[in-house]
Amino acid sequence: MLDPTRRHAGFARAPEWRRLDGGGAPLDLKIEGATVIDGTGTAGGRVDIGIRDERIVALGDLSREHAGNTLHASGKTVTPGFIDIHSHSDWQLWANRRAESKIRQGVTTEVVGNCGFSPAPVTPEHVDELRGFALHVPKGLDFGWARFGDYLQALDRGGLALNVVHLVGHGALRIAAMGFARRAPSADEMKRMQRLLVDAIEDGAWGLSTGLIYAPGSFATTEELLTLARAAARHRGFYASHIRGEGATVIDAVTEAIHIGREAELPVQISHVKAAGRPNWGKVAQVLGLIDAANDEGLDVMGDAYPYTASSTSLRTLLPDWALEGGLDAMLARLGDAATRARIRRDVLEPAAGESMAVRVGWDNVMISWAPTRRDVQGKRLSQIAAARGSDPLDAAMDLLVEEQGRASMILFQMDEADLRRALAHPRIMIGSDGSSLAPYGEMGAGKPHPRNYGTFPRVLREYVREQRVLSLAQAIHKMTALPARRLGLRDRGVIRAGAVADLVVLDPRRVADEATYDDPHRYPAGIDHVLVAGRFVIKDGGHTGSLPGRVLTPP
Ligand code: ZN
Ligand code: CU
Repeated sequence: MLDPTRRHAGFARAPEWRRLDGGGAPLDLKIEGATVIDGTGTAGGRVDIGIRDERIVALGDLSREHAGNTLHASGKTVTPGFIDIHSHSDWQLWANRRAESKIRQGVTTEVVGNCGFSPAPVTPEHVDELRGFALHVPKGLDFGWARFGDYLQALDRGGLALNVVHLVGHGALRIAAMGFARRAPSADEMKRMQRLLVDAIEDGAWGLSTGLIYAPGSFATTEELLTLARAAARHRGFYASHIRGEGATVIDAVTEAIHIGREAELPVQISHVKAAGRPNWGKVAQVLGLIDAANDEGLDVMGDAYPYTASSTSLRTLLPDWALEGGLDAMLARLGDAATRARIRRDVLEPAAGESMAVRVGWDNVMISWAPTRRDVQGKRLSQIAAARGSDPLDAAMDLLVEEQGRASMILFQMDEADLRRALAHPRIMIGSDGSSLAPYGEMGAGKPHPRNYGTFPRVLREYVREQRVLSLAQAIHKMTALPARRLGLRDRGVIRAGAVADLVVLDPRRVADEATYDDPHRYPAGIDHVLVAGRFVIKDGGHTGSLPGRVLTPP
């Protein structure tokens, strides 16, 4: 007899799989006895999962079905593999095809090419500028490609532990067309950017990303972005934006992103929703209100967030954008010139709009997370570093930039917990790490990177589901699976149903936890027992199998 309390699970005990494969050949793998949360947001129920090849072919009571392998998973929960809608692994995956820190969180698909940056397209005239601006260029990432498609093929060819969905960065397009020029593009340059964008989308990019606080993205007007967004819309791409301001100007910046969605008629993803800086705390409520109003108007606007109250970015982002005009060498020359450096100081300490960094965030709340040669400063606050050097925090930061040739990162403790909870709870906000696939060993184990690289997804499940109860488990899983799949238009991932690709996570909902902290960030999470990509174990019993079944996915 059917247990009526189980009916909400949505899975009848009917052997659906017979319809899919005729019931002939045995299953490759059977996951038995677990609670299945299917990603749609509804509560879970006990269902067995049958897998053949790369797909789920059977759901229900499979106790009588033969399978090559059986995973006994009583007491565990099975969910769709997590889709990290906002990642920057496009650089690190070249050194870390095992995608250690992400796959161990249960991430089976990463959306990369965010915040305006992507390693392609490149043009021979400007390739050095792109390389100079990448914080870290691992071996293998040699920019030996011209078209976006050549790059995607090179990425795919070496094998990957997880799947990659790629966006094309507006910054990369602009560098390819006109370098780090701080002006509007000429008509020819604009045409060139459009051409490169359309080629990228035809080659497999899923959309256009912008990073409007970073040079050269910050040099672009709304009009320039609209022209490109219209071209993306014609090819069914979406628009993901690190908006023009996340502090004093956050409301204007969200309004600009929505305006682009409205005028260019394409879906908008507001990246890493936040209100940065103490004077702006509380503004996330207004941001979410704008997103809701846009949807009421009939637009498709969503956003993502990571579950931490600190952000992280390159150290040079402290500088006013004019200081970055012309690229890395020009920036370093400015920092070496006393008069220009004094101008930079003035612009940082007495900005034309809003409050200065020192007031907004405070130098105690800025931690150097990575400095490749001055390891002693990693993990220290700018105020501490300045005191030790007998200088002032901004000078210490500028000196560090010169010493490290522009390559250094920081963590800013600048957001509000109540804002974060509000964002995470909102039905149109999904989970995105804003981090990369790292590993505790080799070149990827350097520094004290933001713990989000290792902990984002388990942290949501521990802190915001189990401890604070901001979300139910099924709601949180939905924000990691079917909701990002909907944004991407991915039909056969992000959900557990017969016919879907078997990207799966087997976890212990009572034990799942992030272990990475700001002091000790290179730590894998607990409670993620198994992770399958396309039916193959990449994580088995908490260990990496070395299997690389992931693919660079192309849009439907
Ligand atoms: Zn960003
Ligand atoms: Cu980002």
